[in-house]
Amino acid sequence: MIADKFQKLTPSATLTINAKANELKEKGVNIVNFSAGEPDFNAPENVKQAAIQAVKENFSRYTAVPGILSLKEKIQQKLKEDNNLSYSVDEIVIANGAKQSLYNAVMVLCNKGDEVIIPCPYWVSYEAMVLLAEAKPIYTSNSSLKITPEEFENSVTEKTKAVFLNSPSNPTGLTYTKKELQELAEIAVKKNVFVISDEIYEKILFEGEHYSIASYNDEIKNRTITINGVSKSHSMTGYRIGYSASNKEIAGAMKKIQGHSTSNACSISQKAALASFDTSKEELKMQVEEFRKRRDFISKELKETKIKFFLPQGGFYFFLDISEIEKDSVKFCSELLEKKHVALVPGKAFGMESYARLSYPNTMENIKEGLKRLKEFIE
Ligand SMILES: Cc1ncc(COP(=O)(O)O)c(C=O)c1O
Repeated sequence: MIADKFQKLTPSATLTINAKANELKEKGVNIVNFSAGEPDFNAPENVKQAAIQAVKENFSRYTAVPGILSLKEKIQQKLKEDNNLSYSVDEIVIANGAKQSLYNAVMVLCNKGDEVIIPCPYWVSYEAMVLLAEAKPIYTSNSSLKITPEEFENSVTEKTKAVFLNSPSNPTGLTYTKKELQELAEIAVKKNVFVISDEIYEKILFEGEHYSIASYNDEIKNRTITINGVSKSHSMTGYRIGYSASNKEIAGAMKKIQGHSTSNACSISQKAALASFDTSKEELKMQVEEFRKRRDFISKELKETKIKFFLPQGGFYFFLDISEIEKDSVKFCSELLEKKHVALVPGKAFGMESYARLSYPNTMENIKEGLKRLKEFIE
């Protein structure tokens, strides 16, 4: 009954573990949930006021499919100032979250049988999107948890259409350096491969400066779809506003698919996203500093255990190497949840066994308690 392409899809492991954790919570169990994929802050006050104002002003009709001009202009300006990228407004498409931008990108690029390179570990939905496009995921992995230029080049075949890059990364919190991105860009241009650059965690950065691969030169810019949004930067996950910037042809195709599937992103949310550009820099900086404090604490605590990890430079995740304790990540996470009531996401969900993701949008009190339980479990 159901189309073949759905047979290959597995339910998101992030959601599965969350559901299990919530179930236990409902039974009254005190769960420390390290599986969330969103900041634990509230949306900024000025964003909330803008949404209320939009409702009051009856800004309740369809907008243009790629979004309202004022928001596209703000995004255009942001891309110029923060990322050194010049796009015309019709190369920017606002969508229902970065997730829809990513989905649209895969759909417009891939023919059946095309190959898409997905560096492991990857954000759970990349693989599903590729499968839904009836394209073929090609995985690369190594202990650095980032794709190397050699791996990239060796993975390219006649059928390669695109590669996903995600910096800062979910699930590792690692970033690619400017040099690394430039080396990858050289190969993408040489091999004529499109880059889907997911930069959603750009603003949650503890070290270094964010670099957009498309800013390297015009050749790579023409082959890159840069994707970003306000979900993580402004704690606006529920508002569902993301966007893409790409060449006119790709942007045009993305408008078409969106026009026939969901139309515009929510009109009220677009007004709220517009206001997010005026949120005080201090307020956003304080949130990043809060994440940094938690990161440093977790890192200090984990160093006392058998767990190995790279110190994350951004995002709000640790990707824990649990190989010295248990190779089966699902078993590890299930037992940890059952015995110690701590929820982590198995590495398997991100394409890598022997790892687990710890997400730290949580209070310091819960983080302390969760790490105490995790240590007891390991010992
Ligand atoms: C790497 C990555 N890309 C994209 C998204 C989707 O973001 P949005 O909420 O804007 O759809 C997420 C959300 O978890 C993510 O982790």
